[in-house]
Amino acid sequence: MGEQLIKVATESKDIKYTLLFPQVEGLLTGEEDMIANMANMVAALKEVMGFFWVGFYLVKGEQLVLGPFQGPIACTRIPKGRGVCGVSWEKSETLVVPNVDEFDGHIACSALTKSEIVIPVKRSASVIAVLDVDSARMNEFDEVDRKWLEKFVALLG
Ligand code: SME
Repeated sequence: MGEQLIKVATESKDIKYTLLFPQVEGLLTGEEDMIANMANMVAALKEVMGFFWVGFYLVKGEQLVLGPFQGPIACTRIPKGRGVCGVSWEKSETLVVPNVDEFDGHIACSALTKSEIVIPVKRSASVIAVLDVDSARMNEFDEVDRKWLEKFVALLG
């Protein structure tokens, strides 16, 4: 395994994701432990994409429980159907929230978060976790993030 991620100086997030994806794929190859793989994935995403907060919440019973993450300390438990994470889990679909203040029931772990994207991690038909990425700027996430982050989480399934 390489010790360092190869990065490119570009404003294009599509190019950053394109370069990062095969590196993360390589990093996960040969390791079956999902928590270890989640930990390396969020570290790589934080380092290369520069996200404010990026992390997993794991489905445990009727709640999501904080898993591997990078960024400021966060809420530990989110009930099903609550907040962006809980709704993404319940609907089993990616949610892009351009302005968290306009999302009914948003859970503000940090007052600095202005926009977010949440992607469910599926194994067979069930959601086993969600990936949450938060930004301190409004309108940070779009279809490019959705396309790539769905590909990243598929590496865990
Ligand atoms: N904002 C999320 C909660 C998780 S934290 O932001 C890290 C939500 O509404 O589900």
